[in-house]
Amino acid sequence: MKKCLAPSILSADFGILKEQLAQVDAAGAQYVHFDVMDGVFVPSISFGMPVLKSIRKYTDKVLDVHLMIVDPERYIKEFAEAGADIITVHAEACKHLDATIDAIKATGAKAGVALNPATPVEQILPILHKVDMVLIMTVNPGFGGQKLIPYTLDKVKELRDIANEKGLEIDIEVDGGIKVDTIDLALEAGANIIVAGSAVFVGDVKANATALLEKM
Ligand code: DX5
Ligand code: ZN
Repeated sequence: MKKCLAPSILSADFGILKEQLAQVDAAGAQYVHFDVMDGVFVPSISFGMPVLKSIRKYTDKVLDVHLMIVDPERYIKEFAEAGADIITVHAEACKHLDATIDAIKATGAKAGVALNPATPVEQILPILHKVDMVLIMTVNPGFGGQKLIPYTLDKVKELRDIANEKGLEIDIEVDGGIKVDTIDLALEAGANIIVAGSAVFVGDVKANATALLEKM
């Protein structure tokens, strides 16, 4: 199964974002992770469609959009039009998760579903066959630079086992607290898409991304 690094630009320096995108690109990162926060589903507010549209001009990497917003079905078409390749919604934020996944797929983007640490894997089993990716949050969503919550990796393992049993080739993404010293645990648990924000963008961006990619 392919393994991909998804640097989260939430921790980037937005004044020099174009250069920092080029640095993660040069390191060989395959995705760019784009965290959208609405100040309601999570406490903080980040960025939205216009920023995604700008970024699309400067990278041909997979744009991996993580919507931490309530009722995300309202904005799916707009994020797809702004250049999203993957759109991930939180199971906790959707009134009609099945329909929202259909709406993502109708745009041509890949569909992901995210689970907060306290949300059990069982909750998404009915729709598992419909999604391309499951994002297991390894911290509570809302901020970069937090510490990984160890029990969330048990959920990664549980989900990978279920997917294997069902014969589903699903991507499992982990997000939050992934650094050079925790990435092995996430990979061993069965994750294959690795989000890293502060571990990439604090310090030497290219060297940081390279160090993580070497472990994959
Ligand atoms: C947090 C976001 C993450 C964040 C991760 O809610 O979903 O993508 O950027 O940051 P780090 O890797 O610093 O924990
Ligand atoms: Zn994220």
